Amino acid sequence: MIRAFGPGRVNLIGEHTDYNGGLALPFAIDRGVTVEAEPLHEPVIRAEALDLGERDEFPLADPPAADGWRAFVRGVAAELRAAGIDVPGARLAFRGDVPRGSGLSSSAALETALCLALIAAAGADEPDRTDLAKLCSRVENHWVGAETGLLDQLASLHGREHHALRIDFVTLALDPVPLDLAGWHLVTVESGAEHTHAGSGYNERRAECRAVCEALGIEHVSQADAEAAAGLPEPLDRRARHVLTENGRVDATVAALRGGDLEEVGRLLEASHASLRDDYEASVPAVERTVAALNDAGAAGARMVGGGFGGSVLGLLPPDARVPADAVAVAPGPPARVL
Ligand code: GLA
Repeated sequence: MIRAFGPGRVNLIGEHTDYNGGLALPFAIDRGVTVEAEPLHEPVIRAEALDLGERDEFPLADPPAADGWRAFVRGVAAELRAAGIDVPGARLAFRGDVPRGSGLSSSAALETALCLALIAAAGADEPDRTDLAKLCSRVENHWVGAETGLLDQLASLHGREHHALRIDFVTLALDPVPLDLAGWHLVTVESGAEHTHAGSGYNERRAECRAVCEALGIEHVSQADAEAAAGLPEPLDRRARHVLTENGRVDATVAALRGGDLEEVGRLLEASHASLRDDYEASVPAVERTVAALNDAGAAGARMVGGGFGGSVLGLLPPDARVPADAVAVAPGPPARVL
């Protein structure tokens, strides 16, 4: 029996920058998805989502498309085979403790755990982890129908304890940045509004970013000249402004962390949220209420995390603050692994 764990992630800052050639600062968390795999003597996958009490069965050769969690399992098996990994027939069972739709990337947790379990079941060497992240993102793009970038998969596969990862999405350079909270509380609170990528405004924002690039004759929004971007028609001007200012906030956060200035990190989280709400329009009323509740509890900063349109809110509270009862502490944990 093979067991593999894939973590979810929290993105400290740098939202909607990954598919725009920008910067982000995520970390893997200690919650995620655990997959158990047992080889079978037939070329089929029999999978069970233990939390949902649901099953799936499909042939390894040419799995048909499917919805929901089944799309992830079929997609991972098919993409691994397309990458030359001889995935054997297997019985898979998985369960997780990242709430689905929470914006903490239960989907990347599932993809990375499935990948590592099936690679181990094939007896194959583990490919380069950045290549594996790209493979997982093909699963999202081609099987699940979400045009997500690489943020979640890179965080899940390259996470490092006590560190956030500064990612440059043009070069895919990864720089670990120590995340020393010095007694401050970093927490997530669920807004209660579930988000999905395929069904939210996420794909619409991607289309708008493509329109920005076409209008300015650039490859990524992060290459835009701020003045030229300001002259674009509404709302493209604001979409571009979010990406450009958010990239700046990522490096400002790295500097503030290196200088131990957590007040400043809080201000940057606050500014990121305002930009996501006003310029990127990725917030919803339930998220606004959750941000307000964290601010009332004395947070130095609070912001929506992940794709938005629902999901969780991240808050940074000073050591003496009274942490709200529904807040869950988050800290950087180790990356996806075979257990
Ligand atoms: C989701 C996507 C990521 C990224 C974030 C927004 O989590 O999966 O690729 O685009 O939204 O930063």
